[in-house]
Amino acid sequence: MKVSVSVLKEYKNLINTIRKVNKSDADFLHIDVMDGVFVKDKKFPIGVAKDAIKVSEKQTDMHLMVKNNDLIKKYALLKPDFLTFHIEVLEDDTLIDYIKSLGIKVGLAINPETDASLLIPYLDKIDLILFMSVTPGLPGQKFKESVIDKVKRIKSKVNKNIIISIDGGVSEKTVSLCKYAGCDMVVSGSFITDSNNYDEKIEELKQ
Ligand code: DX5
Ligand code: ZN
Repeated sequence: MKVSVSVLKEYKNLINTIRKVNKSDADFLHIDVMDGVFVKDKKFPIGVAKDAIKVSEKQTDMHLMVKNNDLIKKYALLKPDFLTFHIEVLEDDTLIDYIKSLGIKVGLAINPETDASLLIPYLDKIDLILFMSVTPGLPGQKFKESVIDKVKRIKSKVNKNIIISIDGGVSEKTVSLCKYAGCDMVVSGSFITDSNNYDEKIEELKQ
């Protein structure tokens, strides 16, 4: 199981937190971007996201919770390793081709209440699916178990090598459900960053 650490909760202490992630056994740094439209909060303006990528020694996994497709293109220019945006905002699938043309791997995120069959037309094009196990917007929410069936259903339709990732409320208690559903990767925030021993928590998720 790969582990991507969300530093959203430590926004005020961002650079120090990223340095701690650098020293840990995490596989990815997860950067949550919010526009105040698709979700209520507004965080990680371009400059801050750019600094986060610069300081990170891990591969970067950027999660855009933003509505405007032109804004998605602007964040793509920061060249994270993976750029994930929401299927709920996709206006035109040439956006996927554009991001890929920049040499960035593309992910599609899907909210808990969105019909997973919407992903099917894009399965051949994308590199990652991010199943939201909470309503996006805030760290520290409770894991919604209803997502598990959805992951299993889509997993059975995926032929090529797409990373199946899950985001929200992932802890030592919920990670076994993620494994059972067939996830390759978990995104975890507060479970890791509330601790003063990141590796101990990451280890619990990797087991
Ligand atoms: C939720 C974000 C998540 C979140 C994870 O909207 O996309 O990445 O910060 O934090 P935890 O693990 O605390 O739910
Ligand atoms: Zn996220």
